[in-house]
Amino acid sequence: MKQEKLLYLETFGCQMNVSDSEKIVALLKGIGYGETSEAAQADLILLNTCSIRATAENRMYGHLGKFKSLKKRKPELIIGVGGCVAQQEGEQLLRKAPFVNLVFGTHNLQLLPEMVRAAAAGKRRIETTFIDNEERFDLFPITGAEEGGVTRFVTVMQGCDNFCSYCIVPYVRGREISRKAEKVVQEIAQLAAAGVTEVTLLGQNVNSYDLKSPGEPDFPELLHMVAQIEGIKRLRFTTSHPKDISERLISCFAEIPKLAPHIHLPAQSGSDRILAAMNRGYTRAQYLEKIAALKSACPGIQITGDIIVGFPGEDEAAFEDTLSLVEEVQYADLFSFIYSPRPGTKAAELPDDARRAEKQPRLERLQERQRQVTLGRNQSMVGTVQQVLVEGPSTSGEELFGRTGGNRGTIMMGERSLAGRVVDVRIIEGLQTLLRGEIINA
Ligand code: SAH
Ligand code: SF4
Ligand code: F3S
Repeated sequence: MKQEKLLYLETFGCQMNVSDSEKIVALLKGIGYGETSEAAQADLILLNTCSIRATAENRMYGHLGKFKSLKKRKPELIIGVGGCVAQQEGEQLLRKAPFVNLVFGTHNLQLLPEMVRAAAAGKRRIETTFIDNEERFDLFPITGAEEGGVTRFVTVMQGCDNFCSYCIVPYVRGREISRKAEKVVQEIAQLAAAGVTEVTLLGQNVNSYDLKSPGEPDFPELLHMVAQIEGIKRLRFTTSHPKDISERLISCFAEIPKLAPHIHLPAQSGSDRILAAMNRGYTRAQYLEKIAALKSACPGIQITGDIIVGFPGEDEAAFEDTLSLVEEVQYADLFSFIYSPRPGTKAAELPDDARRAEKQPRLERLQERQRQVTLGRNQSMVGTVQQVLVEGPSTSGEELFGRTGGNRGTIMMGERSLAGRVVDVRIIEGLQTLLRGEIINA
């Protein structure tokens, strides 16, 4: 029997990359590659990269450096770079890292089998052409159906037309394109038939789904369609853009029992002046109105968000506006980052006079305050009963891990056979990043 070749794949960045990596694994399986977690054993090393901040990009170059020595020992080793850094850097990457055999952009995964074969025959290849039509969603085998599992991400739209002034995504992911609703439903039905019970609809601005194709189902309609699929017990979506949160979408939380009471709604800043400079398309008041409407349509909804600290022109007063917004929303969890200038974006040309020495303490103040809020909220859940979807064993392997409807990770004792079931759990402890509970009704 011919021996299987081995792929070592490392994934950086957001859920979109995680989802693309699943497709990469499935495609390469088709040409005889199995996966390994040991780079030293691999015949093919692929990095699926992220360029959202300079730190993410530098990390990838650091990793790449490590593989150079492996290649010295094993010259036939194929090294490839894909994802957002690859899309952005293209040819330059091949020049900066001469030991790299292939570079594939964010729309070119389907070419990988052919590119890997060419690399094995000694050819260096680079493919970064965008495919600007919806066919690109269906160039892959549906992944995950064969493995089953409890929860899966399903891409419904890709790309971004918003051009927030700090953001690289529109340049590395291309224009916003929505997948046909019937294809989405078909894929989810297939996953459900394989035992998947929860799906998260995925897109850079998922709630802007099909706004540009009148006559086709829009996002609220898509949610209703997916909720009808037999076997799907819970439905989520991410990431939403505040400017496209419609009244109809808010009503979905009241109308669709399967829709989990959680929304990730990045504000980025609480200052109107900074929001305008960021080109976000909403004001502080409009953001807070949407939050209030969500809380009133869905009492108990858990809200998470993203904040950028130290955007050019952010002074102490603007930062205070962000702190007070965060205070008002009471996020269940918040992801916050120091602004990182990205090449080619509008904001990279703005004068940025605040020094890192000012930005770092701001980030720490924000994160410290949020830690208290998160812990307080987790502790206040003690004694409540939550519907937890059991995903499988916890990291220690001794307990079970699952998530509440509000997306709080929860640890509890129980039988592994409960994976995929929604169980009633009484919360007995609220920790910083987790809840601990006991199953009262399996
Ligand atoms: N589409 C989503 C965000 C995708 S990027 C939205 O519009 O909200 C994920 C997060 O990275 C952003 O929410 C933002 O907080 C952060 N981010 C993006 N560009 C950044 C930059 N140049 N510097 C620092 N953080 C950035
Ligand atoms: Fe980036 Fe803005 Fe698009 Fe989000 S909406 S991906 S932050 S440009
Ligand atoms: Fe990073 Fe690309 Fe996602 S830049 S955050 S991997 S879309």
